[in-house]
Amino acid sequence: MRIAILGFGSVGRGIARAILQKDLGITVTGLADSKSGLIDPDGIDIEAALARKQETGALGDPAVRPIDVVRDAEYDVLVEVTPTDAVTGEPALTHIRTAIELGRHIVTSNKGPIAVAYADLAAAAEKRGVCLKYEATVCGAIPLIHGIGEGLAGNSVSRLYGIFNGTCNFILTRMSEEGLTYEQALLEARELGYAEADPTYDVKGIDAAIKLVILANTVFQRQSTLQDVDITGIDQLTPEALRLAEEQECTIRLIGEIAPAENILRVSPRILQKSHPLVVEGTLNAVTVETDMAGEITLIGKGAGSIETASAVIGDLIFIRDRYVKGT
Ligand code: HSE
Repeated sequence: MRIAILGFGSVGRGIARAILQKDLGITVTGLADSKSGLIDPDGIDIEAALARKQETGALGDPAVRPIDVVRDAEYDVLVEVTPTDAVTGEPALTHIRTAIELGRHIVTSNKGPIAVAYADLAAAAEKRGVCLKYEATVCGAIPLIHGIGEGLAGNSVSRLYGIFNGTCNFILTRMSEEGLTYEQALLEARELGYAEADPTYDVKGIDAAIKLVILANTVFQRQSTLQDVDITGIDQLTPEALRLAEEQECTIRLIGEIAPAENILRVSPRILQKSHPLVVEGTLNAVTVETDMAGEITLIGKGAGSIETASAVIGDLIFIRDRYVKGT
C-alpha cells in the first residue's frame, strides 16, 4: 500500500519510525512538512528524511508544497497530520477534501476537519467509495472509536464521560500533588510537548470540547458544533480549591460528558473521590462508556505523544490496507 504523509512533526515522524521498524507492507511515496516536500513513486528513503529533518530542520524540495503532494504523488491513502487549527480545521480540511475528490482513502489525527465537517467528509468519502479514518483524533493511543464502533457494535451507548485532555490532567495533578501554581504547572506541560500550539485550547476546555463534538457526531450521529458544548476550563481554578478538595479525600479533574437522552454535552472541572476510576495521573486520558449490553467500560491510556498517536494512525492504516487495498 502506498501512502502520502502530510506533516512531519511529532506525529508524522512517529508514523515514519513505526513504518521503518515494522514490516507493514507500506511504502511512502509522498511526504511534506509545511516548508518542503518529496514525491517519489518508487518510495521515499524515510530513514534519510528523518535524519535530514533532524540535522537541518528541512525535509525536501521547498518548491513542493503539501497540496502538491496531495495532487501529484501516487498513493492509496493520505495520512493528514499537518499542524492544523483545531477550530477551523485548516489546512488539513482542504487537503482531505482534495484527496477524497481524487479517490484516495484518508487517515487523520487532526481534530479540526472531523469536528467541523464530519458529515460532509463522510458523505464525500462514501460517494467516492473511499474510507475515512480518524481514531487518533480522540484520546491518542486509546482505541476508543474503534472500540465503540466495532468492539461494542450492537450496544446502545447512553453516556460517555471522562478525561479527554492530557495537558489539563497533568496541570491538575501537579497542582494538587506538588502544590504548583496554575502558571508553573502550565509551563511544565508545555515543555512536555503535550499542549496544543495555542495552550488556551487546552486550559479553556476547547480541546476536550472538540473531541466531544467528534464523538457526538460519529458515535451518536448528532450534528453538533463547538457552540453546542457547555464549556468551563481549568484556567480559573485556584490551588485553594484543590486544597479544599484534598481535605475531603477528593480531587478535581476536567471531565467531558455526552449523554444525548439528557441533552448533556459539556466540559467542566468536577470534584471526584480520589478512588474514582477516572482519577488518573499526569498526561493520561480515561473514558467511561455506559452501554446497555456490555455495561460500563473504562479505558485508560496515553492521550498524546509521538509513537502513541502513531499507534492509532497505524491501526487505521492496517484497517484500510486489509479491507480496501490488499489484493486490488
Ligand atoms: N493537547 C492535547 C492534550 C493533545 O493535551 O490532550 C492531544 O489531543
